[in-house]
Amino acid sequence: MRFSDKIAVVTGAASGIGAETARLFAREGAIVFAGDIDEAGGAKLAAEAEGDIRFVPCDVTDPAAIEALMNAAAGVDGGIDILMNNAAAGGARANIDEIEPADWDMTMNLVLRSVALGIRYAVPHMKGRASTKNGGANIVNVSSVAAVGPGYAPTAYSVAKAGVLHLTKCAAADLAQFGIRVNAVQPGFINTNIFTASLDVPGEMKKLANAAIAQISSNAQPVRRGGQSADIAEAVAYLAGAGAGFVTGTSLIVDGGITLGPRHSWDPEEPGLFSALEKMEEDMKAKAGEAAPD
Ligand SMILES: NC(=O)c1ccc[n+]([C@@H]2O[C@H](COP(=O)([O-])OP(=O)(O)OC[C@H]3O[C@@H](n4cnc5c(N)ncnc54)[C@H](O)[C@@H]3O)[C@@H](O)[C@H]2O)c1
Repeated sequence: MRFSDKIAVVTGAASGIGAETARLFAREGAIVFAGDIDEAGGAKLAAEAEGDIRFVPCDVTDPAAIEALMNAAAGVDGGIDILMNNAAAGGARANIDEIEPADWDMTMNLVLRSVALGIRYAVPHMKGRASTKNGGANIVNVSSVAAVGPGYAPTAYSVAKAGVLHLTKCAAADLAQFGIRVNAVQPGFINTNIFTASLDVPGEMKKLANAAIAQISSNAQPVRRGGQSADIAEAVAYLAGAGAGFVTGTSLIVDGGITLGPRHSWDPEEPGLFSALEKMEEDMKAKAGEAAPD
């Protein structure tokens, strides 16, 4: 029971990584306040929980809704011990040369400002909860491998997720005086609904698309299986727990190695520069051998 007597808040908790982490926290003794715009999903999560999960409708693009979620969580025991800023979606898909200003703002508000305001409205309830026992008061922000560079997600989302990393460091510095730790996790390619959530197609088709994406993800990185929400939940539990009591301002990449390097660096089946050079050398030697007189 790593989180006995803790009050935890998880945003975007109705699905995927947030749902899995909320379940883990609750299983291990926390009272979890789960915020999400998906009211049916949130109610189901709470009803089926093994432990204490309380759903609060919350749109993280709305500052008042974030504040209300934090106030509700703090109402139980006079404070908040753990905040996981997790809610997000893929945002605007356009490249930088075509993005509309309103779509840029929407993505920044959803992916980056939501994290800043989650911290802003939770911290007044976290000061004074910073016992060094059992992990103390702390925050885990969900960034992404998209923060490392282009190619993993749309541009606006990637920029916002890079912002989440920098925000994590700045907040860790700002909040150290209150004994509050702040860290981030950077998931790789994880099988959740995020890829199909914004598709304008019926639910059954989304399921088919999710299955196809799961198939692709099983072979997309050096660890040859699809990433699961539980892989990220375990990393968040480490950062939020007593074992990480000396860890702040850092980020944990949990990606099955997808950011290690180009595919040819880890997949012997994939041709790269060096295998091409070896082949060239063999061909040249063979030609030279053919040309040499007996
Ligand atoms: N799945 C991946 O491969 C992956 C990779 C890197 C980072 N992430 C990040 O992990 C986090 C969780 O994503 P997921 O993969 O579990 O996706 P998901 O779609 O399964 O879950 C996201 C949840 O956030 C909620 N949400 C969306 N907009 C919201 C809003 N305005 N207010 C409140 N809740 C809102 C959704 O309703 C949903 O329940 C996100 O921050 C995402 O960017 C995911």
